[in-house]
This record gives sequence, C-alpha cells and structure tokens, in this order.
Amino acid sequence: MTAAQMTARRAGPLKGVLRAPGDKSISHRALILGALAHGLTEVEGLLEGEDVKRTAAAMAAFGAHVEKIAEGCWRVEGRGGFSEPADVIDCGNAGTGVRLIMGAAAGFQIAATFTGDASLRGRPMNRVLKPLGEMGARWICRAGGRLPLTLQGGNLNSISYRLPEPSAQVKSAVLLAGLGAEGGAEVIEPEAARDHTERMLRAFGAQVNVAEDSGGRRIILPGGQKLIGTKVRVPGDPSSAAFPLVAALITPGSQVTVEGMLLNPLRIGLLDTLGDMGADLAVTNVREEGGETVADITARYSQLTGIEVPPERAPSMIDEYPILAVAAAFAQGPTVMRGIGEMRVKESDRIALMSQGLSACGVGVEEGPDSLTIVGSVRANHGVLGGARITTQGDHRIAMSHLILGLASDEPVAVDEPGMIATSFPGFLSLMRTLGGEIEA
Ligand code: S3P
Repeated sequence: MTAAQMTARRAGPLKGVLRAPGDKSISHRALILGALAHGLTEVEGLLEGEDVKRTAAAMAAFGAHVEKIAEGCWRVEGRGGFSEPADVIDCGNAGTGVRLIMGAAAGFQIAATFTGDASLRGRPMNRVLKPLGEMGARWICRAGGRLPLTLQGGNLNSISYRLPEPSAQVKSAVLLAGLGAEGGAEVIEPEAARDHTERMLRAFGAQVNVAEDSGGRRIILPGGQKLIGTKVRVPGDPSSAAFPLVAALITPGSQVTVEGMLLNPLRIGLLDTLGDMGADLAVTNVREEGGETVADITARYSQLTGIEVPPERAPSMIDEYPILAVAAAFAQGPTVMRGIGEMRVKESDRIALMSQGLSACGVGVEEGPDSLTIVGSVRANHGVLGGARITTQGDHRIAMSHLILGLASDEPVAVDEPGMIATSFPGFLSLMRTLGGEIEA
C-alpha cells in the first residue's frame, strides 16, 4: 500500500555521496530507439521509474522483445519497426513517453490507441498532432487534442517544421516520425532544447545534420535511414540530482556529492543559476560516458542570494524551476523567474502549485502568467517557516520540492500523493534518508 502522505522535518546536516538515478529522458529514448532498430540494444543504468517502465511495456506491445537482465540492465531486441498493438497503450503519467511513442508509431501503417493517467489525459497533445498531421498521420481524440487518442500512421510526407515553443518532446516526435517518412524530416528550433534524440539517433547509426543560424537550430534527418541496435549507457539525471544538491545548499552544515551526473549543456541551466546565486558547487571528475559528458557534483551549504534568472535559460532547466523556487525561498532578496509559461502544462500547473505551496509555508511569492517571483527570506537566519500540508496534484516534482523544503524549514512539511515520486525517482526516500534527511512515510 502506498502512503497517503510523506512528511519531511529538519534534522542535522545532510552528508554523503550518492549516484544519481538514470536520466529519464535518455531512458525513454533508449527503449524507443532500441525497439525501432534492427537487432540488439543493451541498456545499462536505465531508470526503473514508473514512466520508463510504461515505455518498456509499450515497446513490447509494439512488437519488440524487451527484457530486464539485472538492476538497470535491459535488452531490447528491435524488429526494425512497430507492429500494431493488440491493446491500448497506457503511458501512465509520462508526457515524454506518449509524445515520443506517438511520433515513432506515426511512421508505420498501424493504428494505436494511447491513454494515460488523469494528469496525462489533461495535457495538450495538439503540439505533436499538428506536425504529425502535416506529415499525413490521422487520429481521433477527445476535445482539445486530449487522450485517449487513436492514431493511424503510415505513408508520411517529409516535413520542415518550425517549433512554436521550445520542446524536445515535439522535436523528438517529428524526428522519430521522420524515420518513417520517405524524405525524412527537418525541425527548426528557435531556442535549443535537450538534444538527446539527435545524439542517440547518431549512436544508432543514423545521420542527423545540425546547422545553426540567426533563425535558430536546424536539425535535418535525411530520409531512408535504418537504425542498428547498440549499447546505451544512461548517465545520472540532473533533474533528479537537483533535489539532494539543493537540499545540501539550504541545510546548514551539509555536504553532498552526486556522482555520474549528466553535464549536457542543454540540461544544466540550474547549476549555472545556483552558481549565480552564490552556491558552493564543485564539478569534478568530468568524463565522457556513452556520448555524453558526466561529472561528480558536490554541493555545500551556502548563503544564497536572489537573482533575476535569464529567461533564455528556461529550456535548459524547465523541470528544475520548482526546486529552484525552494532554493530561492532560503535566499536573501528576490529571485525572478520569467519566460516559464511552459511550466503550466507539465504534470501539473507548476507555477500555480509552487506558488500555493510556498505561500502556505510562509514564503512571499508573486505569480504571473509566465513568471514566478520568490521574495526570498526576510529573516535574519535566512529561514523558512514551513508547517503546511501540500497538495501536489500527483506531480512528482512538486512533491519532492516541498519535501526538500521541509528538511530545512522550522516546521515539518507534508505532501499528498507521495507514491507519484516513483514516476521519476523511485529511490528518493531511501537516498534522502541515507544522507541524514528525516522523512516519514
Ligand atoms: C523532456 C522534455 C521536456 C521536459 C520533460 C522531458 C524530454 O518537455 O519537461 O520532462 O525528455 O524530451 P518539453 O519538451 O515539453 O519541454
């Protein structure tokens, strides 16, 4: 049975060394590309969170042989394409899972019905349906492009698609559909979003050309390409590592090292931002692993100062604003986050929920349509009151952010629906406890 709530309270300093769980974005892609490829793909360090497990089950439903060999080690035997699934594909809570799989499935002459949990059924799918429709895919769905949705793929035209908003999910869906389009696909992104799909397509033997000019980044996938199974080593997820690192920064006397964290420049806006706020962060042992740069990151307790976060940084830290808002609550002076409207269409409306949660914990917050300002601690000890029960609407990052806040606030902080943390960070509770965090389930 999953607990109805989890409560974090202040204890001693946090100390220790841990390995970040496998990157969620890369884990989804490894399974999907493995299933699309010919031959065997061996994945090491796969994140075994609920979202990724849904993608693994979906790949099996589309005809790949998917097998867990050991903790984090999976084999995917692809058949060079998808066959029609016999049942509905349930992607659970995973926006990345469903959007990338829809893109991949569109390339084949099959029909597939997709659904998800209440959160996913409320999220906009039009952003992927629009380009897939331009390529020739067809679908029936609920009003507003919501799941459940039945997609009919096959006979796709090539496309040149300019992303209206920075989104790696949409970019990836178009590129994966492009594998099944005779002339391939081109995506133009005005602002660069995470590039794991481009990198991994190359690792599976595909040609992907990238050109940058004043209009943005042009990603070209020539048509007629086949993927060949390969080995994928999944690096540690910076979006998960952010929680213990920020916990150390705001809890006096702490020192925490996260080993093997992905340092992809399109994913580490949070490190730059915390650095600008005066965080004591050391990046050591920088190395190449499986086509990505990884490093060990050590965070020590720091007196943070509020800043204006450069809006152009948003795509490289879009999932980290909730935990940044927690760090900002302990900083001296305001932290202004602008250009973050995309946060409203994540697993929840994260601007609204962070604003409500932090206010309930005594933090001064100002919410705008696409901005969030955290007034910062006005107390002599830079402390935060806490003492609230937070409604998370089943959003894992809202839950983890407030639990980290509770580890450093005067009064305990409780969150509802803590079971959802397992979608992205199943080891969160035990890892935080190993570091000395007091969290009760
Ligand atoms: C992801 C892209 C981002 C991010 C999500 C993972 C990905 O979403 O928020 O958690 O793996 O491509 P958008 O593409 O909608 O910005």
